[in-house]
Amino acid sequence: MPGLASFLIENDGSYSDKTIEHYRLRAAGGASMIIIEAHGVAPEGIVSRHQARIYDDRFIGDLSKVAAVIKAEGSIPAIQIHHAGRQVPARVINRKPFAPSPLPCPAIKGDVEPLTIDGIHKIIKQFGDAAERAVQAGFELIEIHGAHGYLINQFLSRFSNIREDEYGKDIVGRSKFAREIIREVKERVGKDFPISFKISAQEFVADGLTTEESIKILELLVTEGLDIVQVSAGNDATPEWICQPMFMKKACLLDSAEKIKAALNIPIMVVGRINDPLIAESIISEGKADLICMGRGLLADPELPRKAQEGRLEDIRICIACNTCMQSIFRKGRIECLVNPGLGREKEMEIHLAKIPKKVMVIGGGPGGLNVAHTAAKRGHYVSLYEKESFLGGQLILGSSSFFKKEMLSLIGFLKKQIEKCNVTCHMNSEVTINMIKENNPDIVIMATGSIPCKPPIEGIELPLVMTVPDIFNGIKTAMKNIIIIGGGATGCEVALELSERGASVTIVEQLPNIGAQIEAITKKIILEKLGKNSVRILTEHRLSKVTEKGVFVTDRNGNELFLEGDNVIIAVGNRPNNNLFDQVKQLGIEVYQIGDCLEVRTAKEAIYEGACIGMAI
Ligand SMILES: Cc1cc2nc3c(=O)[nH]c(=O)nc-3n(C[C@H](O)[C@H](O)[C@H](O)COP(=O)(O)OP(=O)(O)OC[C@H]3O[C@@H](n4cnc5c(N)ncnc54)[C@H](O)[C@@H]3O)c2cc1C
Ligand SMILES: Cc1cc2nc3c(=O)[nH]c(=O)nc-3n(C[C@H](O)[C@H](O)[C@H](O)COP(=O)(O)O)c2cc1C
Repeated sequence: MPGLASFLIENDGSYSDKTIEHYRLRAAGGASMIIIEAHGVAPEGIVSRHQARIYDDRFIGDLSKVAAVIKAEGSIPAIQIHHAGRQVPARVINRKPFAPSPLPCPAIKGDVEPLTIDGIHKIIKQFGDAAERAVQAGFELIEIHGAHGYLINQFLSRFSNIREDEYGKDIVGRSKFAREIIREVKERVGKDFPISFKISAQEFVADGLTTEESIKILELLVTEGLDIVQVSAGNDATPEWICQPMFMKKACLLDSAEKIKAALNIPIMVVGRINDPLIAESIISEGKADLICMGRGLLADPELPRKAQEGRLEDIRICIACNTCMQSIFRKGRIECLVNPGLGREKEMEIHLAKIPKKVMVIGGGPGGLNVAHTAAKRGHYVSLYEKESFLGGQLILGSSSFFKKEMLSLIGFLKKQIEKCNVTCHMNSEVTINMIKENNPDIVIMATGSIPCKPPIEGIELPLVMTVPDIFNGIKTAMKNIIIIGGGATGCEVALELSERGASVTIVEQLPNIGAQIEAITKKIILEKLGKNSVRILTEHRLSKVTEKGVFVTDRNGNELFLEGDNVIIAVGNRPNNNLFDQVKQLGIEVYQIGDCLEVRTAKEAIYEGACIGMAI
């Protein structure tokens, strides 16, 4: 398990029981080594107040506890040590962030303070102090975070280092800071103590690191005693290469790792979209890398290694690379996972048998219905699930239709397998009516009936050229040449991308000032780039006012009308809850709950989470 900020850290840097349990579970799940998240070596080197820290002896107590639980579960406790450099907002550290050169972080912007030689020496010593504390706490490997656009990476790269002194210019100069840190750490912890270095071997920016340059840098680091390398990619300007979204192919950094392995004589770890044990196995057996790091894969399922070892591949909750984990950290200050509602709430989500098994009727076989059904059945309830269609998965089947979202099917596959294993009785092609509920006479009804697309009450909305998102993803046959999409939310953008990739000329009409407001930041960056490349026209601050047989009239903020010609108009303005039955069931006096979109239209994450909560509560 590579370093993964858990956001289970208190404001003062201390761990809670949740932090310890988070790592214990992942060690118990079979990961051979757990590299616990980036720990700040200096107060001004942290990225956020939720970052773990190692800059003071007072942290050793907590660090010892986590090292001990990892070891007790049979895994190797390792720790990553880190300095953010310029990649932190000044408000977090109450001062200007340090940087090699007067170049601000492209993501955060704001002034930085270029490091003096004394300042550099102080930080090198702070890395040494941190390493000593890590050893004292019982860690058996230390990883120096030299990747992802943080301070050491900033020094290594011409993209962020334009110094003219001995810490800049050429590869020897730019690597001097990293070399001196490794030397200091080795001196402090002993030359036999294993040290790893995580490198963004490719930064994908002008003047940034390439695999070829990284090999030369790593060769210099090996002369200082470096024992192992973790090959990653990306920096503050290219976060899509740090946490690769589902657009990127699996094991997308393997080529880079393979080249590094061929050039160096030390073990190589590779990270990046390796969420499947079979891919991991083939990388190892083909000798392309020595160790596999699974990051988000272990957030999604801490037991992934154990399940793989036992041949229970179908029981693995595969990470779909939706980056909900990243989004929740930045937007909510806590970590969440779409596929694993237990992430960060490991104790609360432990399954306990129900005191009294009950007859439970679940209506709807979307992600919410499937998750509540298997959670309740695991607890010993007698669960029947009713689905009006001939397939399970609900709207997520549509959500997995785009060329770049096929990965989501693994989630539906997992949920289907689980209800099968828990003996949930499934009634397909069964649209539940109030009479069916009366006849069934269940103890509990759980409504998971989802939502239906809205159609604005506008003149011309019933004309044949008007379509819905389900029409498109259900494969309706039309020429699809000149398309107008009404609504630039997540779904509108997704349809625009799908159709523009198929060669259609597409216009998005959105009433807000921006499109894609709810899309996770890294995924959004890529979608916007691709829409731009496909010449998709984006008309913001315009509303649909009328549909004609030849296109649409839209109105801007000042009431000016504009006609857009189009062969088809796709309405993607959102959904409304499908909750007709709820009040009727309540009147029967039966215990009834609503989960997911039928409660409030949101995403599969909420449907799955609410399914888990209700499944645990009844
Ligand atoms: C194109 C598209 C892309 C999307 N992409 C994403 C994404 O990337 N990430 C994300 O998190 N979310 C995405 N979503 C949203 C996500 O699919 C929904 O939020 C989620 O499926 C809601 O789950 P649910 O279980 O509440 O309802 P649904 O998935 O809507 O499932 C409800 C089920 O109930 C059945 N049903 C309804 N009434 C009855 C009845 N009376 N009797 C029996 N069965 C009934 C329906 O047939 C359906 O199968 C997307 C949606 C669409 C349309
Ligand atoms: C929520 C989150 C937190 C992360 N925190 C760290 C970190 O503390 N240190 C680090 O080196 N990488 C961090 N990363 C990057 C991961 O270690 C890993 O390189 C990346 O997620 C790609 O690998 P994966 O596809 O196996 O997840 C983080 C990634 C995520 C999603």
